[in-house]
Amino acid sequence: MKYVIVGGTSGIGLATARMARDAGHEVVAVGRDAAKFAAAHAFGASTAQLDATSLPACQRFFGQQEHFDHLVLCASASAGVGRFRELNLAELRRGFDGKFWPQLHCAQAALPALRPGGSITFVGAISSRALKPGTAGLAAINAALEAMVPILASELRPTRVNAVVPGVVDTPWWSHVPPAARQQLFEQLASEVAVGRVGQPDDLASAILFLSTNTFVTGTILDCDGGWKLKNA
Ligand SMILES: NC(=O)c1ccc[n+]([C@@H]2O[C@H](COP(=O)([O-])OP(=O)(O)OC[C@H]3O[C@@H](n4cnc5c(N)ncnc54)[C@H](OP(=O)(O)O)[C@@H]3O)[C@@H](O)[C@H]2O)c1
Repeated sequence: MKYVIVGGTSGIGLATARMARDAGHEVVAVGRDAAKFAAAHAFGASTAQLDATSLPACQRFFGQQEHFDHLVLCASASAGVGRFRELNLAELRRGFDGKFWPQLHCAQAALPALRPGGSITFVGAISSRALKPGTAGLAAINAALEAMVPILASELRPTRVNAVVPGVVDTPWWSHVPPAARQQLFEQLASEVAVGRVGQPDDLASAILFLSTNTFVTGTILDCDGGWKLKNA
């Protein structure tokens, strides 16, 4: 099987690329910054440069791809956090531009290249339903993506369409938070979930591999979040 992983050069996407290679699949890891490609090359993935914020660039990119089986959509900008009263709406717009639109651009542009019976896996975020103050903007971006999944799964059959929904995962997405503050934040967030730890990229990679390879699963939003919903249970 062949995977194209947009955002496959870091964090969750990189772990998915590695796990797919370990399972014997062909992988193209896609990102903007070629300086991040070495990690994917190290385990035999090929890489490609694309800025998925541009629909024409996505159309050109997927128009040049050989047919493939599984599309995984991990791109995001870490923008749009903050309490609503002070929320910088231009930053929230940047959040939509950096996640919602790139994932949609790729999903649509890739359709002609996806083999029948293949799959699309979106990556949302538990902020869509975590009800945490300061995350209304992130909730909107991710809820918008997640809301589309069952409808796309119905429209695009036999292509299967699913989403994995991460909780807090230790990846470079958090690099805007200084290391000491990040560790403190992770400890705090770990204490709030049932499993008592933040996620690792491999936790999400195995969920993505499951969604893409299990041919009986479509239209599914799979929470992989350490148990946020059990917080007050
Ligand atoms: N980490 C968490 O706690 C967490 C929680 C909930 C949801 N998520 C979601 O999980 C997904 C993966 O995040 P991560 O934590 O693995 O972050 P990450 O380590 O920052 O990885 C993001 C990947 O996306 C690529 N990318 C970003 N913008 C792109 C664009 N416009 N075009 C093409 N590639 C682009 C990045 O490479 P370049 O920068 O080189 O383009 C990188 O490979 C995201 O959708 C994120 O919102 C993460």
